Amino acid sequence: MNYPLSVPKRIMNKPSSPPKTKILFVCLGNICRSPTAEAVFKVKIEQAGVANRFAVDSAGLLSVHEGEPADSRMRKHASARGYTLESRSRPIKTSDFEEFDYIIGMDDPNLRDLKKRVPHADTEAKLSLLLSYAPELKVSEVPDPYYGGAKGFEEVIDLVETASDRLIQHLLHES
Ligand code: 4NP
Repeated sequence: MNYPLSVPKRIMNKPSSPPKTKILFVCLGNICRSPTAEAVFKVKIEQAGVANRFAVDSAGLLSVHEGEPADSRMRKHASARGYTLESRSRPIKTSDFEEFDYIIGMDDPNLRDLKKRVPHADTEAKLSLLLSYAPELKVSEVPDPYYGGAKGFEEVIDLVETASDRLIQHLLHES
């Protein structure tokens, strides 16, 4: 019996998974706020059953903490709420502006610095502030907790949790 030499089309054209939406959280040092946003957002997309639709990372505007784990105080407060901060600090790089779909800063100075670094004017549309997705909070910035006490770290997690929920809603409605 003669069999066709060509491979059946359904095997050749294996359906590929849809492209992931790439999200980069950015703060100054990439050791407190953006690693928290990265970890919280990852837990929440997992819980929502949509983790396979996103690629999530974080970066800093400074390079002084490059290679360091997240701040031990931030890790301790996050851990008490069930979040493990696993990222190592890395400075943002020019290719991030091409690679990521959303580049999300924590405060106004972050956004100003990001705007100065965009390689093309049209990349600016990718930039936003995390709390812009949760206007009901009536707070526009995630305050830098680095030089403060325990309350500041708790506040970061409170704000990031609410804003992550709202950001996920926004992203799922967009697609
Ligand atoms: P983050 O906090 O931007 O939330 O990571 C900071 C960490 C380090 C410094 C400032 C803010 N620093 O000046 O070293």
